Amino acid sequence: MKGIILAGGKGTRLYPMTFSVSKQLLPVYDKPMIYYPLSILLLAGIREIALISTPYDIDDYRNLLGDGSKFGISITYVVQPEPKGLAEAFVLCEDFIGNDSVCLILGDNVFYGQTLSVLLRKAVDIKEGATVFGYPVMNPCSFGVVEFDADGKVISIEEKPAQPKSNYAVPGLYFYDNSVVEIAKSVKPSPRGELEITSVNDVYLKQGKLNVILMGRGVAWLDTGSPEGLLGAAEFVEAIQARQGYYVCCPEEIAWRNKYIDTEQLLKSGKALKGTEYGKYLISLAKE
Ligand code: G1P
Repeated sequence: MKGIILAGGKGTRLYPMTFSVSKQLLPVYDKPMIYYPLSILLLAGIREIALISTPYDIDDYRNLLGDGSKFGISITYVVQPEPKGLAEAFVLCEDFIGNDSVCLILGDNVFYGQTLSVLLRKAVDIKEGATVFGYPVMNPCSFGVVEFDADGKVISIEEKPAQPKSNYAVPGLYFYDNSVVEIAKSVKPSPRGELEITSVNDVYLKQGKLNVILMGRGVAWLDTGSPEGLLGAAEFVEAIQARQGYYVCCPEEIAWRNKYIDTEQLLKSGKALKGTEYGKYLISLAKE
């Protein structure tokens, strides 16, 4: 399975912070936002990743993440010339996806929780159709919303409905079989002029191939799209890390625990960040 991280967009809700810096490079406490979705792909066992960003920002991501070898993965960089919607990711990455299945994660989605790796594995193991998650929120009208019946079967999926049919939002983490490329090419732009991911999911729903996995209360899905959300996410990460001493979404650690990199590479990454708590953490892991 291939992975795509979408880190495009203008981040207008975070102006002036994002006037000259890509939103997904802003810090969430002690690491760039993009480290969080990257960590999720690593946790899911995905090691071939395409990162999509704007023509202005793509080199900043390249400078930060390189070819991916420090995380034991490969990263390909793809430019999205105009922000035409999430579903365009599959069209832009057609060659990269090839005949594979693919996972898309949005560069501003932060997840954390003990059961997460189990849920990710479950999604990876579903070979046919599309798999999305359902996450209870207080403000479903800001998101894609899924409705399901008493047996857990999806009956509708809507993008930012004024009258949501449930309080289950669809987070920015999606798993698809290979037909997603053709489906993405076939959907029409929405009234806001974008190829909506929800339109793609709706095609799968109509084919009876949309699976939903619920994320329970043990999982945190944090908003980073507003100044308050960004601060809240940073405080959440700080609280966990300060209390337990375990880092939240540290891609070097996940890569090392999953044996994508050896202890020597981990130590090298730690030494490159010497003088920071992050660097000390990597070095301490290497001495475990
Ligand atoms: C996008 C999707 C929406 C999804 C959300 C998750 O919204 O369109 O369905 O629930 O991401 O972060 P956007 O952030 O583009 O408004």
